[in-house]
Amino acid sequence: MKIDLIAGARPNFMKIAPIIDSIKVAQYKGDNIEYRLVHTGQHYDKNMSASFFKQLDIPLPDINLEAGGGSQAKQTAKIMVGYESLLMEESTDYCLVVGDVNSTMACAIVAKKMNIKVIHVEAGIRSGDLTMPEEINRIVTDSITDYFFTTSDIANKNLLLNGVPKNKIFYVGNTMIDTLLKYKSSFRKPMIWDKIGLTEKKYIVMTLHRPANVDEENILKVLIAEIIKNSNNYPVIFPVHPRTKKQLAIFRISYSNLYITEPLGYLEFNYLVEKAKLVITDSGGITEETTVMKIPCMTLRNNTERPETVELGTNELVGVDPKAIAPAMKKLFDGKWKTGTTPYLWDGKTSNRIIELLLQFP
Ligand code: UD1
Repeated sequence: MKIDLIAGARPNFMKIAPIIDSIKVAQYKGDNIEYRLVHTGQHYDKNMSASFFKQLDIPLPDINLEAGGGSQAKQTAKIMVGYESLLMEESTDYCLVVGDVNSTMACAIVAKKMNIKVIHVEAGIRSGDLTMPEEINRIVTDSITDYFFTTSDIANKNLLLNGVPKNKIFYVGNTMIDTLLKYKSSFRKPMIWDKIGLTEKKYIVMTLHRPANVDEENILKVLIAEIIKNSNNYPVIFPVHPRTKKQLAIFRISYSNLYITEPLGYLEFNYLVEKAKLVITDSGGITEETTVMKIPCMTLRNNTERPETVELGTNELVGVDPKAIAPAMKKLFDGKWKTGTTPYLWDGKTSNRIIELLLQFP
């Protein structure tokens, strides 16, 4: 069995790494499975891509399509053209895509049109918010996927509601959590820790990169001002995505307890998260990691495709109205935040389950 593994953007790398580990174990046992790692090049900065390969022991990609940058359509088109050429040179039996980024959708479409079976890891999640490119990517990818690996019951239900046959849906858990649990004991203190003298549970970590939160000056300025006002003077560490960095430079946002840094490595970022008092984010993946590490998490979005992180985990959907920030932060500092439980099968063994199932596919 030959399988292409597609990785393109930062949140893909931690989902692909454990799948490669499990394939290697299967190969060692003599199972008939070969893989080709395709990096689309969607994320290309060292600290958005290469550092993850190094820290998570991901082998260098067999192919890099170098399709980074550009508008949504340009980027998607570049990935599609690059992947189609690759498949024309050398085809594969399966194309495995993870998550919901442009690379996920682009490669799924190309593979399916070439009659290659598509496997989607993290299938079925939905926010219902079609203003986000990720939601469109999820819907399109799932509409042409052959095998669906899911992280939650709600994802299974969404797929069934969309008419996906039950025997194509496999609830396996969360590969991102495989990586988290594997590397938990190797988390590394980032330089900023000693530089500004951080203390456990006495600081806040923040990540914001959604266009809705960072592209407009007034929205970003007001959100950050409100967070700082309610931060109890705790240091707020803000590793910024390239998109946010551009905006912060233009809007000239600065506060004495706001520490803006480059995007951190995986091990350094999660070291900070694990010891934080609070995480404020608009990312989806981070809400899963904080749920497992039981760290209070405030999501600055009106919806989530991961409702289990709210219903079971430590995440709360605070929304994007700045007025909602003060009561949420008061609740935290009053010690009234929920502790949460971990969703079923987020146990570090998801990739093994995926490969065992894959080996039984026709
Ligand atoms: C992408 C994903 C999003 C994910 C996020 C995490 C899509 C639609 N979105 O959003 O789901 O949460 O990654 O990081 O796929 N850029 C750089 N260097 C890089 C990468 C990007 O400068 O290494 C720049 C791009 O040129 C662009 C901007 O950052 O100007 C946005 O990059 P893009 O890949 O379009 O989407 P993200 O916002 O990163």
